[in-house]
Amino acid sequence: MAGRLAGRTAVVTGGSTGIGQEIARRLAAEGADIAIADVNPADETRKLVAETGRRFFSDKVDVSDEDAINRFAARVRSELGSADILVNNAAVVLLADADHVTYEEWRRTFAVNVDGPFLASKAFIPDLKESGSGRIINITSSSYWTAPPPFVSYVSAKGALNGLTSVLAANLAAHDVTVNGVAAGLVRTAAALENTSEAFFEQAVQVQNIKRVQMPDDVSGVVAFLASDDAAFITGQIIVADGGSTRR
Ligand SMILES: NC(=O)c1ccc[n+]([C@@H]2O[C@H](COP(=O)([O-])OP(=O)(O)OC[C@H]3O[C@@H](n4cnc5c(N)ncnc54)[C@H](O)[C@@H]3O)[C@@H](O)[C@H]2O)c1
Repeated sequence: MAGRLAGRTAVVTGGSTGIGQEIARRLAAEGADIAIADVNPADETRKLVAETGRRFFSDKVDVSDEDAINRFAARVRSELGSADILVNNAAVVLLADADHVTYEEWRRTFAVNVDGPFLASKAFIPDLKESGSGRIINITSSSYWTAPPPFVSYVSAKGALNGLTSVLAANLAAHDVTVNGVAAGLVRTAAALENTSEAFFEQAVQVQNIKRVQMPDDVSGVVAFLASDDAAFITGQIIVADGGSTRR
């Protein structure tokens, strides 16, 4: 049986590791060809996508660099064809509370986590309009509501990404392009562990209604649904996939 995303081309920023890698694997498993833009090599993701039989392209791209993302979009078109799905997943976490965050750290967080999704969206909008079922899916965070104190620049940037999601949805609806966000809770990735601790994960489980650690595939399934025709009438929404930590 053909997958829900057969014949589509999906771009995943930050798809070399963690949640982005699992999103790439899942979208490929559902039939999409995959392009990855990441500052780090995507060799592991390439292998996972190869196992699904889908086509794969990746390039070293800093999503905060407008020229680089525009060059990448042109290369995706020539390697895989016009894009149908853009997943803005690349982000950095620079931990500091308001007393200690430097302006440089604040700016860098916004450059990658907000400018990045804006620039990638802009670069791929012509493709998405052409698609007939274009999708932008932004990976945001339930920390926007829970606001853990050391995440000053990160939480603020995710708030801006939520705003970008709403306004892009309004801009693109007439072209049958939907724009949504998936707000994850604390997800077990190497990066999240590096930024926190095992104790932080245990505390996160305590405040969730679902009493287990959230894994990358708890996010990728929601992304695959939003990318599919089943979600054609959903736009401008942030789907909170956090085990209920913001609904206690
Ligand atoms: N892990 C969590 O607990 C959690 C929770 C909520 C939301 N999220 C969000 O999920 C996404 C992925 O998080 P993760 O935990 O998998 O992190 P990660 O660090 O494993 O993945 C981020 C990827 O983005 C890439 N990247 C970083 N800066 C880049 C840049 N300038 N240009 C291109 N690529 C860049 C990295 O190389 C990496 O491959 C992020 O948007 C993050 O904010 C994560």
